[in-house]
Order: sequence, then structure tokens, then C-alpha cells
Amino acid sequence: MKVLAYSTHGFDQPFLEEAAKNKHQFSFTEKSLNEDTVEMAKGYDAVALFTNDIASVKIIEKLADYQVKYITLRSVGYDHVDLQKAQELKIKVANVPEYSPYAIAEHGVALLLALNRKLHKAESLIQLQDFRLDTLVGFDLNNKTIGIIGTGKIGFAFAKIMNGFGCKLLAYDPVENPLAKEINMEYTSLDFLLKNSDVVSLNCPLNEKTHYLLDKKEFASMKKGCILINTARGAVVNTNALIESIENEHLGGACLDVYEKEKGLFFNDHRNSILKDPVYSRLRAFPNVIITGHQAFLTREALIGIAETTIYNLSSWENNGTCENDL
Ligand code: NAI
Repeated sequence: MKVLAYSTHGFDQPFLEEAAKNKHQFSFTEKSLNEDTVEMAKGYDAVALFTNDIASVKIIEKLADYQVKYITLRSVGYDHVDLQKAQELKIKVANVPEYSPYAIAEHGVALLLALNRKLHKAESLIQLQDFRLDTLVGFDLNNKTIGIIGTGKIGFAFAKIMNGFGCKLLAYDPVENPLAKEINMEYTSLDFLLKNSDVVSLNCPLNEKTHYLLDKKEFASMKKGCILINTARGAVVNTNALIESIENEHLGGACLDVYEKEKGLFFNDHRNSILKDPVYSRLRAFPNVIITGHQAFLTREALIGIAETTIYNLSSWENNGTCENDL
């Protein structure tokens, strides 16, 4: 199959090339899929997309005009694809339902430890040979209550790690994970979880129900000093409400791997640009907000998993006309 992979970079292209060897003919572009770049898909059977590519109604209509028959997603999340339009125009869409939930869970823990123990600040101070400790006081995680919103593969992997730290675990998810009992994870209402957690981790997908799941009202009901971790999707949180809560010194801090308006920003080199996003600049200015650019998945194991499933999806369509990861 002839495949155009959008949004590929140095970190993932070699893994895709290796997995595709002798199976499919790949072309790569660093450009994201959008209305300006969709024309590049002419002449391809399939496009391989990443999280910040946009497959809206208009773009899917263009892909159908160009006879593109398959969209393979190099991600778990599929909030960036209009599945209804794709189905209507008989374009098959598949995702990578699981690669390494540990990669994302472990990154959430890394962010939490970095923010709580002020590792990023400590490193800057050490660079200056300033060995004072006055600004670096954190808190024990042992015995603290961690609220996990979304207890699927990633949420549960995160919960297991926090269980190992000696934390109490509260969970909110419309579908309970049968393994929860093994780690004493207790399901509660969202309101109870927010009121009682010292740390809240978002691990649910972005969809109509979870869009702005944490808004002004939810931030107000969170325990004072609570730390929020978001490795899910930016728009699960109303960023302006998050900023307000930090400014009011209600929320104790935020660990963000995703950002509501990350498309066009993350994954790209903006070193010589003036960023024109006041919301991002505001977030960036807080000493108790730590941001990574959607890198929670970035481990070798995860990249191999993504590449192999991407190729598997394409081969299944080519050989059987269908694929078990079809959405
Ligand atoms: P999963 O499908 O295994 O688990 C998602 C869980 O969220 C399910 O248990 C589901 O019932 C629950 N859920 C659905 N609606 C909910 C709601 N309204 N409130 C609370 N829980 C709800 O998915 P997995 O693999 O754990 O991934 C979760 C999300 O993590 C993905 O959808 C994706 O957006 C994000 N992700 C982020 C990455 C990153 O690099 N930052 C990488 C991979 C995934």
C-alpha cells in the first residue's frame, strides 16, 4: 500500500521505516494534515496520522475525492477524526488501542515528582551554584489521596505506581475496572473525588462528555493545594478556569503534558518565533505549573508498539479488507 505519514519527526520515522520494510511503501512529511496540506495525499491509498493532525469533515471529503481509502492513527485517542464522515464516505479508520500504557503513566508520575520536589528549580539553582534549599520544600506522597479520572489502561497503570508509593486511591469512571480491588482503589462520584484528593490525574479520553470536565465549578470544589496532572487531552480542562484557580492560590499546581491549543505549537521548533498565545504564556509564567510538549508516550517501547500496530492495521486492510482495530 502507498502510505503518506503526516506529522512524522526524527523520533518516530525510523521506527515506522523499520516496521514497514518489505510491506508498505511509506512517504513521510513533518507537516500536519490540515486544509493546506491535504492535497499532498493525492495518489496515496492511506494516510497515517498523529494526534495533532486534523481529519475534520472537510478534510475527509477531500481525502475521499483523492481516493484515499484508509486512515491509520498512530495514537490511542481519536478525538481529532470525524468518524461519522469517514464511515459515510467509506474510509476505514483504525487506531493503536494499546502500545505502552506504562510510558504515559510513568511520565505522569515523573511530572508529579518534578513539580512536588521542585526538581526543575533545583537543577537551575545547582547550575548557578546556589545550594540553598529554602524554595524547594515539597510534601510526602505516602498516605496522600490520589484521585484518578479514567481508570482504563493508563489510569490503572498510574494507580498501581501510586499504590506502590503508599497512597490512598480514589477513582471516577463510568466503567469500573475489575482489577481495582487488587490495589484498594475505591470508586466514588466525581464531586467526592475532587473534594478529597491531594492529587488528581486525568486519564480519560476527550469526547463530548469529557470536554471541559474540569471547569470553574470543579476547580472550586477541589481540595485547596491539590495538584492536577493532565496527560490525557488539553480540552478535558478549561484552561482559563485552571489559570484562575492557580491565580487564586486554590489549586496547588499543575503538571501538563497536553494543552487545549497545542495543535501547531507542540512537536514544532518555535525558537525564533514570537508565540501569540496569551493563555499559553500565562500558564508558562506560573512557578507551580510544569509543562511538557505531549511527550508522555515517548519511550522506545511505545514507539515500537505504535509503528508495529500501524503496519499491522494497514496489512489487515490490504489482506482481509477489515481490521480488528477499526473504529
Ligand atoms: P482506555 O480506553 O484504556 O481508558 C479510558 C478510560 O476512561 C476508560 O476506562 C473509560 O471508561 C474512561 N472514561 C470514559 N469516559 C469517562 C468519563 N466521562 N469520566 C471518567 N472516565 C471516563 O484508554 P487509555 O489507553 O487509558 O488512554 C486514555 C487517554 O489517554 C487516551 O484517550 C488519550 O487521550 C490519552 N493519551 C495520551 C497520551 C500522551 O502522550 N499524553 C498517549 C496516549 C493516550
